Amino acid sequence: MQHTPFASATPSPSTLPPAAGRYDLYQAIHKALRRLYADTLVRLGQADPDDDAALAPVLAQVRTLCAICEVHYADEDRFMHPALERVQPGCTAAIAVEHETHRATLDAVRERAAVVEASRGATRRQALNRLYQDVAVLMAEDLVHMRVEDEDFNAVLWRHYDDAALQALEGALVATIPPAVMMATLPWMIGALNAPERAAFLGGARQGMPPTVFEAVVAIARQELPPAEWLKLAAALQLPPQ
Ligand SMILES: [Fe+2]
Repeated sequence: MQHTPFASATPSPSTLPPAAGRYDLYQAIHKALRRLYADTLVRLGQADPDDDAALAPVLAQVRTLCAICEVHYADEDRFMHPALERVQPGCTAAIAVEHETHRATLDAVRERAAVVEASRGATRRQALNRLYQDVAVLMAEDLVHMRVEDEDFNAVLWRHYDDAALQALEGALVATIPPAVMMATLPWMIGALNAPERAAFLGGARQGMPPTVFEAVVAIARQELPPAEWLKLAAALQLPPQ
């Protein structure tokens, strides 16, 4: 049976019913990426091209975004796509091509960030504006791309795999993430989720990691979250509030 590859060229209103409690492999990382894209874009738009000290952390965040995206696309290609292709051959073709396009954009973004860093005056102002535009287009394309994965790919996964199989797939994927990238991603992810999603995410993580690593993750949450959100998380996980 032939399947049309899913592609993100024709966005439409969401038609997928709620997941009805099914395990969503994409939700946490995609929320993290949306938050990181949005925050980076705003900071790039505000960055003063004549203030080196103010610009440096913004360019560092651009590089963090590139590193996280690079690992994310590779993880999807390596783990998610084979699982999808096994049950619906051909369905990942268009999305895999979009990963290639996004990777090329990441290279261009990194090069542009280097130009911003090395230049001054009118050249830097122009390069910074182009960098802002490049990140805006990457974000726009990836927002639509992620919607296809959230809806069309999840629909395939939920039809063919139970939650235990999806969690095993996620465990294999997470085990390959370089620790530095994991530590860079967690603050964006923890802050991007809402309170019940955050409690479920960290409650699940607690089961799969040594207590010392979980303590480090909790420390990130305490630092990242506004006090009211931290108290909700502490209550949900029965952690000391201080
Ligand atoms: Fe993707």
